[in-house]
Amino acid sequence: MSDAMVESEATEPHARDRMRALVRRVADTCDLPTLPAVAARALTLARSPDAKANDLAKLVLTDGPLAARVLKISRSVLYTRRYPPNSLQDAIVTVGFGALRKILIAASARSAYRADDAVAQKLWEHALATALAADEIAVASGRPRGGDGFIAGLLHDIGKLVFHLSDPDGYRTVAGKDEAAEEALFGVSHAAVGACLAEQWGLDTEISEAILLHHSGDSAALAVQLATADRIAHEIGYASAAECATGEAEEVPDGDFDVDASHVALVERVMSSFESERSSFE
Ligand SMILES: [Fe+2]
Ligand SMILES: [Fe+2]
Repeated sequence: MSDAMVESEATEPHARDRMRALVRRVADTCDLPTLPAVAARALTLARSPDAKANDLAKLVLTDGPLAARVLKISRSVLYTRRYPPNSLQDAIVTVGFGALRKILIAASARSAYRADDAVAQKLWEHALATALAADEIAVASGRPRGGDGFIAGLLHDIGKLVFHLSDPDGYRTVAGKDEAAEEALFGVSHAAVGACLAEQWGLDTEISEAILLHHSGDSAALAVQLATADRIAHEIGYASAAECATGEAEEVPDGDFDVDASHVALVERVMSSFESERSSFE
């Protein structure tokens, strides 16, 4: 990733207004997956300066499947510490409140993809592969794991899931096609739906902007990271669900990086982390 990163659009004053207008438009058009109620309350509590790990653990434990997923993800390599946490409270103390917020988002995103739906499963695999690729790109640039790139990767194509769930036959006709085809059928692109969901789930505007722009060739750092990670997910065989939905192979998106030795090594790390990490999100 180039260090000469162009200033993110998210830093422009109009970015938040633009996202708000988008949220209003998409909310009128689509039913977006909502955050599980307990996750939403825990996210609010985790932002409070008075929050205590004990209270957060008690709250998250009121949703058994969510609590199990949060504990599992906190034990993953993304948040590895010398001693893996034994309890949810231990996990919260170990990873900290900032990482806990990301884990709650990751656990909530996972729960939107049903295991008995083949298209949803393919979309999930693509989301996780993209998130892990974004994470490896972050690490290669000296940044920590489990950051904004990871969360943006998990959510970048969730708009496709929204289309598939709301109109499976309609989604089949646009899967693998460009955003213009999606806009013609659904009135919005999957990128706009994903950005709207990220906004509604309370993520930073930089993340929703990167999701909005991940097919646009935008030069904001996170959008570039996301587009590169998206391409790597295709390269390692975890394309989005177009092939599953339509029976036709999907083209690998264009990228602007050299396929040199460091890229090959990075792709290998993504493949191995996908194999080791997928069980952390089941
Ligand atoms: Fe996409
Ligand atoms: Fe994608």
